[in-house]
Amino acid sequence: MSGSEDKITSLLSEGRVFDPPEEGRDQAWIKSMDQYRELYQRSMDDPEGFWAERAEELVTWDRKWDKVLEWDFTKPEIKWFEGGKLNVSYNCLDRHLTDGRRNKAAIIWQGEPEEDVKVYTYQMLHTEVCRFANVLKKKGVKKGDRVSIYLPMIPELAIALLACARIGAMHSVVFAGFSAVALQSRIQDCQAKVLITADAVLRAGKTIPLKPNADQALEDAPSVESCIVVQRAGNEVSMQEGRDSWWHEEIAADDITSECEPEIMDAEDTLFILYTSGSTGKPKGVVHTTGGYLTYAMHTCQWVFDLKDNDVYWCTADIGWITGHSYILYGPLGLGATSLMFEGVPSYPGPDRFWKIVEKFRVNIFYTAPTVIRALMREGEEPIKRWDLSSLRILGSVGEPINPEAWMWYYVNIGKSKLPIVDTWWQTETGGILISPLPYATPLKPGSATFPLPGVDAAIYTEEGKEAAPNEGGHLVIRKPWPGMLRGVFGDPERFKKTYFSRFENIYDPEDGARKDEEGYFWIMGRLDDVINVSGHRLGTAEIESALVSHPAVAEAAVVGMPHPVKGQAIYAYVTLTAAAQESDELLAELRQHVRKEIGPIATPEVIQWAPGLPKTRSGKIMRRILRKIAANDFGDFGDTSTLADPSVVDHLVEGKKKLG
Ligand code: PRX
Repeated sequence: MSGSEDKITSLLSEGRVFDPPEEGRDQAWIKSMDQYRELYQRSMDDPEGFWAERAEELVTWDRKWDKVLEWDFTKPEIKWFEGGKLNVSYNCLDRHLTDGRRNKAAIIWQGEPEEDVKVYTYQMLHTEVCRFANVLKKKGVKKGDRVSIYLPMIPELAIALLACARIGAMHSVVFAGFSAVALQSRIQDCQAKVLITADAVLRAGKTIPLKPNADQALEDAPSVESCIVVQRAGNEVSMQEGRDSWWHEEIAADDITSECEPEIMDAEDTLFILYTSGSTGKPKGVVHTTGGYLTYAMHTCQWVFDLKDNDVYWCTADIGWITGHSYILYGPLGLGATSLMFEGVPSYPGPDRFWKIVEKFRVNIFYTAPTVIRALMREGEEPIKRWDLSSLRILGSVGEPINPEAWMWYYVNIGKSKLPIVDTWWQTETGGILISPLPYATPLKPGSATFPLPGVDAAIYTEEGKEAAPNEGGHLVIRKPWPGMLRGVFGDPERFKKTYFSRFENIYDPEDGARKDEEGYFWIMGRLDDVINVSGHRLGTAEIESALVSHPAVAEAAVVGMPHPVKGQAIYAYVTLTAAAQESDELLAELRQHVRKEIGPIATPEVIQWAPGLPKTRSGKIMRRILRKIAANDFGDFGDTSTLADPSVVDHLVEGKKKLG
């Protein structure tokens, strides 16, 4: 919990409250705190009734469920809508062809070059998805097979996911910023049959080849029979005969039609796997299912963003992360909304790119991350003033705690001191938002995610498993299941149980610290485990450490998070070299490069400090608490160090840090 004490003090002094806007309230899905409280109470008194109503209202079922919920977190076993049958792509596409939305924009795609814009109506998207689903079938993909997807933010990414959903294949998206090594281990873990990738990624004016990473990953991924390549940049790529083919050629083949019957799935069939980092070991394949996940993504998208038919809704995340899955694709398209998808970055060609897009498409709802806000804050207000942001009605934040300073900047400059900000707390594992304001109901406190949504039984527990007193920090826990929660860790039921259900009995443990103030507002403090949140992305210390140790010069490594003004946290690595290796600036650069190669650029250490020794207990456990303090230049009080095997190691590291500055 590095720096969390400071965070708590700063948040405790935060006394401002901002009321929800009057304008728009009458038309809102949730109009007042009274209505929220009533819904919340109902959802706690009769969860099954509450969720059955939502599932009925939002989703088109081929067959209604026999039982709403079956659960026991001690096993753990969670089943929603058992016996229910549906298809997610049918819900996101087909039904909108007959409900008046056929010619409505489903996806507005803004490419990295300004002139690259594509608009897909529901009809057009349906056609593309059916065609690509037929391509997958032709490649032998069947219900239950896995398809790995390694693509930039181009329309084919959305089409590929929906095509998998259409034929009942599980998609596993790997963020295109991850390395070949990271891609390979994810493909190997889920034993994908097909890989979908592109020639290159366009990023900040540059063409970054992607296919070579795919080729390298496939060197040892025997489960993959076919690799389908989207032509994005037109750069030279090598294609392996018999394995690789071009997307545009595949969908244009004579035998590929625009009709593809959706596969009828059981509510509890897996929709997708998405890998995320944990404290130990390799990333986990988080498993999400069909009926519950779709219901939950749609439900939260509708209430939290007050999403209506005429809105242009923009979530700036990448579909490589859960935020993009739930809030670019499944939530909005399930609701028949218009979802904007952007290929580029906020800073290119200038720091006003986002605001230019808001004006260009008259965006109404804008959902981004605190790291983006902090980066844009540094550019001042001038880039904002150039563009008309008056179409905006709701702002959102996700990925990490938003500091009150960034919150206020967002509120005043983008929200013109009148738009609600929904600070949404959730995780890859939760499938959708669990704690968040409702934009026309909740009075806001900057830096607080406010209250649990209806249906979410959130509480703060002490180490002993008792409810914490107001303002007492503790473990954030969820005591009842919700339809969007993960159903497992792919191929590893033991890990599923141990990671999420072992700290407290019959309770879901998200591994986040939080407190609840006297008015019941939740203040999230951050991860309690050894996960570092870099720019809203989760990285496990164990992963980065094993990447470092895989370099021949490294004997041992310990990685911690350090406070960073834009990224929230950055990676600080302590490295012990082997006897044969020499400390040098060249080696530092090489180690950085090595981590990029093993995991990806987001895992690059900000600082590497040479550590002749690491502070370990006599039983050999590294005391990260001390390392976090040194990384943060906090040398005052290291707490109890009596169990250290060699306390002089600490003085050594402090000296080293002082030299680094
Ligand atoms: O620590 C919490 C933080 O991000 C973690 C989840 O990361 P990931 O699975 O990558 O999903 C990110 C997008 C949902 C959480 O355990 N986190 C996410 N949103 C917030 C947050 N911390 C504070 N406030 C938030 N709004």
